[in-house]
Amino acid sequence: MTTAQQEKRTMSVTLPVMSGTTGPDVLDVRSLYKDTGNFTFDPGFMSTASCESAITFIDGDQGILLYRGYPIEQLANASTYLEVCHLLMHGELPSKTEMEELNKTYRNHTMVHEQMRAFFSGFRRDAHPMAVMVAVVGALSAFYHDSLDINDPKQRELAAYRMVAKMPTLAAMAYKYTAGQPFVYPKNSFSYAENFLHMMFSLPTEEYTPSPIIARAMDQIFILHADHEQNASTSTVRLAGSSGANPFACVASGIASLWGPAHGGANQAVLEMLEEIGSVENIPAFIEKAKDKTSNVRLMGFGHRVYKNFDPRAKILRDRCHEVLKEMGKEDPMLDIAMELERIALSDQYFIDRKLYPNVDFYSGIIMKAIGIPVSMFTVIFAMSRTVGWISHWLEMIGEPGQRIGRPRQLYIGKPQRDYVPAAKR
Ligand code: CMC
Repeated sequence: MTTAQQEKRTMSVTLPVMSGTTGPDVLDVRSLYKDTGNFTFDPGFMSTASCESAITFIDGDQGILLYRGYPIEQLANASTYLEVCHLLMHGELPSKTEMEELNKTYRNHTMVHEQMRAFFSGFRRDAHPMAVMVAVVGALSAFYHDSLDINDPKQRELAAYRMVAKMPTLAAMAYKYTAGQPFVYPKNSFSYAENFLHMMFSLPTEEYTPSPIIARAMDQIFILHADHEQNASTSTVRLAGSSGANPFACVASGIASLWGPAHGGANQAVLEMLEEIGSVENIPAFIEKAKDKTSNVRLMGFGHRVYKNFDPRAKILRDRCHEVLKEMGKEDPMLDIAMELERIALSDQYFIDRKLYPNVDFYSGIIMKAIGIPVSMFTVIFAMSRTVGWISHWLEMIGEPGQRIGRPRQLYIGKPQRDYVPAAKR
């Protein structure tokens, strides 16, 4: 394989500058190829804005996260997940009547087609629930034909409500299936978070009453994960959707992208790392491994592409973590390891120099473990919460006048043109 030759050559171009409502200005390079015959090169999108968006704003240096202008701290403390869903999708907090309507709409759609039960039984019992989710969410497009026309705003909205309402049901089914327990139907007298806990933990033999503290912690986890601007999975949903694919298929592609350990899979990876460390005395040796570039080990739950100061979501969950552990009456040695790891890493020059701070996954995993949610379900819960974000971005993109297919270009480093060699002469 050859690699690209890099040379310092200067080229002068005059580019228009675009300003948003807040955040850095951007250079508009849309006509660069037409005007100069050059592409821009930015693998990993380190300096590239891929779209215009009015949904979420992040200032990574200041640790600011806003949904439709509202700070995440205020929403996490005073709002509910369903209210946040309305905000993300429609741009404003719902009025009292809108909220009542919304509650009815979501409750209308919590059940899934009965035939989906049979669909689940095609999976091995030991399947990872994320593998199940990629498949069953994609399969919704085979069940709900009346919400597939992306050119009809009513059908787009119906698909959006369906997905947000059905995700907890599907997620809990994925868990129950792997646990070998019967599926539990949704109960519409519960709130969104209570209903999810009910479908996860109820058994036909025993009533399950969700604790308000646990339900609130769950709802906060949903709010904090609801959207995060143009991350890998959201960009995947946008790119898939740009070709005109149906929304269920687009969200399934987002789930696939989220599964990776550098993205949503990190909350599972944090718990696995804490278990691997095993006790507080082993932390220094593990930190040394994480700093060693030849080891391939990273401190999971640390670092973020955008937050280079602190992750505001992590701050909120850090407090919640202690409250939940107290409610559950659990002294978890994992939490001691996590707290000590956090303390040592934050005072280590390697992490300070690279601005690596604990991210949201560092604490969400510990909370969910305390609630009794199995580690393999952590990323599923992230996917559940993020569905509204994916859908809001998809709705925003499809609604844009002149929306076109996303099609990045490349810097080709392969062989130049050559002639085919017949097999006998190779
Ligand atoms: N442990 C040890 N070193 C790290 C870590 C880490 N967790 N993260 C980054 N580094 C080092 C990296 O080796 C590099 O060092 P150097 O400059 O000496 O080569 C430097 O920090 C910059 O790293 P990078 O890979 O260029 O940073 P990035 O912005 O591409 O990666 C990240 C961001 C989140 C993928 C990365 O920090 C990471 O892998 N963290 C662990 C996984 C994790 O917790 N992911 C969850 C992200 S938050 C949830 C979400 O929003 O999806």
